[in-house]
Amino acid sequence: MKGQPKLYGELAGWWQLISPTEDYADEAAFFAEFFLAENVETILELGSGGGNVAWFLKRNFSPTLADISAGMLAQSKKQNPELEHIEGDMRTLRLGRTFDGVLIHDAIMYMTTEEDLRAAFATAHEHCKPGGTVVIVPDFVAETFVPETTHEGTDDGGRGVRYMEWTWDPDPDDTQVNYEFILALKEGDDLRTVVDRQIVGVFARATWLRLLRDVGFEARSVLDSSSEGERSEVFVGRKR
Ligand SMILES: C[S@@+](CC[C@H](N)C(=O)[O-])C[C@H]1O[C@@H](n2cnc3c(N)ncnc32)[C@H](O)[C@@H]1O
Repeated sequence: MKGQPKLYGELAGWWQLISPTEDYADEAAFFAEFFLAENVETILELGSGGGNVAWFLKRNFSPTLADISAGMLAQSKKQNPELEHIEGDMRTLRLGRTFDGVLIHDAIMYMTTEEDLRAAFATAHEHCKPGGTVVIVPDFVAETFVPETTHEGTDDGGRGVRYMEWTWDPDPDDTQVNYEFILALKEGDDLRTVVDRQIVGVFARATWLRLLRDVGFEARSVLDSSSEGERSEVFVGRKR
């Protein structure tokens, strides 16, 4: 279970079938509304993955994309060739420049300790202009975490993916939960399976807010009405 998830390494070339761009439309619209209200133009996305949210945001904003995985950056470049892509870890990245807004979406859960979470928030703060906006989008907070199993998948010509996502918490007293992916990958007649055992972080709402305030954001939690309960809590902040 050590190292980077297989999803973003050896399986990066399957990302569009696992998580197609169109699935991000509603969330991206919610973020866009929020950034527009704050007069944001330039955005740094940390953990930008396949660049799916960015594909929508670039209509109204100027996103710069950073991710720890070269494979995922390569996927993002296919649909966002005009955007700047940077390889880097959200805990340590230092670009020496600032943006109107910083977004961390669907990647912040890879911070599994308070120390890592604080480091990612410090990176966001470092890259925000004074008065700039941060938007942080976890899958869940401790108060809303529920173990669950879901099944999804799509096809594209001769290729297809079906996968089960199985989230469970072996120790409710720590800040980690198991996030298991069991994938079946089909190419023509060939079918293979891959198990990707991931560990992600789970923190109480008060911890998210405390760490954001500690690094220098005025922070609050808002409900994302676009997510139909799936990922309904978003943390937003303004750099002091
Ligand atoms: C689900 S994807 C993000 C999806 C993205 N928001 C989009 O719109 O396509 C999660 C990403 O987080 C990245 N990631 C995980 N840990 C990271 C870290 N420490 N620093 C930067 N990126 C990280 C992974 O490489 C992966 O590409």
